[in-house]
Amino acid sequence: MTAFLFVTDLDNTLIGDDAALKELNQHLEQHRQEHGTKIVYSTGRSPALYRKLTREKSLLSPDALITSVGTEICFDPQEEIVDQEWADVLSQGWNRDAVVAIAAHYSDLVPQPDTEQRPFKASYVLSEEISSELLPRLESSLKEKGLDVKVIYSGGQDLDILPQKGDKGLALQFLRQKWDMDATKTVVCGDSGNDIALFSAGEERGIIVGNARPELRQWYEENKKDYHYFAQAHYADGILEGLYHFGFLA
Ligand code: GLC
Ligand code: MG
Repeated sequence: MTAFLFVTDLDNTLIGDDAALKELNQHLEQHRQEHGTKIVYSTGRSPALYRKLTREKSLLSPDALITSVGTEICFDPQEEIVDQEWADVLSQGWNRDAVVAIAAHYSDLVPQPDTEQRPFKASYVLSEEISSELLPRLESSLKEKGLDVKVIYSGGQDLDILPQKGDKGLALQFLRQKWDMDATKTVVCGDSGNDIALFSAGEERGIIVGNARPELRQWYEENKKDYHYFAQAHYADGILEGLYHFGFLA
């Protein structure tokens, strides 16, 4: 067994089944101690909502934390100091005020709470019924104003507008290069729309948990790769199933 880089989404991927989480945590912690495996959480949550989750669930302390849909990286999660190098990458060409001004024209976009509005992320709630009609219109008006951004819809309700260079996948690549970890020794896990970037960034091994949302299922069907595994089991049990499948655990 050798060290690997383990990257997982939190809500409805790592989190969802407390007993399964406990079992997976034991395997991961042991692997970290014996082989130097690195554990990274990659979440849509802000640092504040991540902190809230750590009070509610028993999470291992990660070796790095990616929050706000890949737009903030923190190498020392206790200290909560965001990586400035990554912030510098994202700030190129990003004009948050202009993004918010355009979104304000759409009354169906309801801003998320203040904690979820971040320097490199503007977030809204959007109902699934109108999303397919509204999203293309929003994307073209952003484009018309010359705003080169990424629009990500997750879980049939959350809409995030991010800098073009900011998503979970690009944040992961940044970490992987810093730590000099091969894609074949990296595994990413997710359940919803904002995780698609994790699976499409490169050739990292990917585990899609059995309870994945329709938007990720559909993406998987249309982009099948032999380094992606769709688990039968849900939540942390699905992750464990995938880790055995790829031989990261034996
Ligand atoms: C988390 C964040 C929210 C975001 C969603 C999807 O729930 O708190 O701001 O929109 O993830 O990425
Ligand atoms: Mg999730």
